[in-house]
Amino acid sequence: MPRPQARFVCQQCASVHAKWTGRCEDCGAWNSLIEELPREVPPQGLSPRGLSKDRRSGHRLGFVGLTGPSMLPPRRRTGIAELDRVCGGGFVPGSAVLVGGDPGIGKSTLLLQAAAAMAPSPGKPEAASATAAYITGEEAIDQVRLRAERLGVNESPVLLAAASSVRDIAASLDRDDAPDLVVVDSIQTMYLDTLDSAPGTVSQVRAAAQELIRLAKRRGFVLILVGHVTKEGVLAGPRVLEHMVDTVLYFEGERGHQFRILRAVKNRFGATDEIGVFEMSDRGLVEVANPSALFLAGRTTTDASAELGDPAAATAGQLSGSAVFAGIEGTRPVLVEVQALIAPAVLGTPRRAVVGWDGTRLAMIAAVLDARCGLSVGTNDIYLNVAGGLRIVEPAADLAVAAALVSALTETPVPADTVVFGEIALSGEVRPVGHTAARIKEAAKLGFRAAWTPLPQSPGAGRSRAVEAGLSIMAIGHLSGLVTQLAARHTPRRQTLRGIAQ
Ligand code: TYD
Ligand code: MG
Repeated sequence: MPRPQARFVCQQCASVHAKWTGRCEDCGAWNSLIEELPREVPPQGLSPRGLSKDRRSGHRLGFVGLTGPSMLPPRRRTGIAELDRVCGGGFVPGSAVLVGGDPGIGKSTLLLQAAAAMAPSPGKPEAASATAAYITGEEAIDQVRLRAERLGVNESPVLLAAASSVRDIAASLDRDDAPDLVVVDSIQTMYLDTLDSAPGTVSQVRAAAQELIRLAKRRGFVLILVGHVTKEGVLAGPRVLEHMVDTVLYFEGERGHQFRILRAVKNRFGATDEIGVFEMSDRGLVEVANPSALFLAGRTTTDASAELGDPAAATAGQLSGSAVFAGIEGTRPVLVEVQALIAPAVLGTPRRAVVGWDGTRLAMIAAVLDARCGLSVGTNDIYLNVAGGLRIVEPAADLAVAAALVSALTETPVPADTVVFGEIALSGEVRPVGHTAARIKEAAKLGFRAAWTPLPQSPGAGRSRAVEAGLSIMAIGHLSGLVTQLAARHTPRRQTLRGIAQ
């Protein structure tokens, strides 16, 4: 039999080439071509392409209408409320979930906890429990057992196996009494023996995932795949992996912080951008039910004695360069502190260092402050940090970032009892944002007394002060209004205003 024609597959873009070259002609990536030898006749049932039948033997499709009885199985709740929330109220049987994140962030820990939480335990109603299997391709059985002991879940009847052959996994799971939840840690360690390429390559990851997903659909179990993240922060392996699964969850967090944020970036069965907040403790991940309190912890929060009418009192003991942003993560309001530091640039090009926010957006706001408000922000080094390790993606944070910047530049604290939100346009106008009521309610709940917000959308609502949910609302229509607002609070005790046209 002739040797099958070798082909070279780019590990970045999955394009196929007949010859090896140092650089992929399609995507331009260097050293990304790897030789793959496809098998001529894949064994029955384990075809890498999934088309084991001849086209002529296919069945005719029976098309149906959009309405009709649909028997959606109930969602499987893990009992870890933050995880259930991110999935849109629990896992959907027969669906595949991809969990990505940096090494050491806590993926294995969370999933072992989830498997254990789902497994039956004394006193738990039968209907609420499920059989769970944890298949590890990365760690030895002993390692997982040690972790389970540390997490205090070693008594839980989780089925544990160390395996990396998809054929073995399929043989063990393709049965009527398949477990209800299967965790595969990680998809990069799994391989199909029908392919000659090494585990972790594009074709192996794709084929292994495809096979496992097909099995999950057929047997109706929840499949959770752990995916590695490359240096660039994207899931290793082909992008198709994200297309193949029903839900993609990313586990994020700063190394130095204990907080871990689980974020849904794709969910066929629920809302995306929902987050779950956890704290890494010495006994695993602990849910954080009230993230706002956590993100604001350690801050000299609302000084109860501070009176709104007395800026000196309201800002006493508080440092400049920080503002509390009332944000929305998914369906949930979250308050976070935005911190800015402005220092004169020592080198020719000013430095910009941003943690937890978009650097381009920061450059835009600095430019708007320069061009529309006459503040020379852009010539300085700017450091911006979102406290607590949260990554904000909402444009509604613009005004809070601007407030932190102006506050840092003028050395005038934003009042400690004030939350800020609003989107800034290039013209300097402050645009309304969604979920205003939810943001204000959360701020009121946490003891804040004032909010700097965009102008209300309805014209009759008034421009100046109003009170909503116990918070006094200061509507700001243009960024210069924010600068004036802070300038009015500037006390002579502090250094003179730099750069502000007085
Ligand atoms: P792990 O779940 O192994 O990360 P991943 O699977 O994403 O690579 O997390 C390991 C890290 O979590 C490790 O640095 C130790 C820490 N950890 C704790 O702080 N407390 C614990 O109870 C456990 C189990 C881990
Ligand atoms: Mg792991």
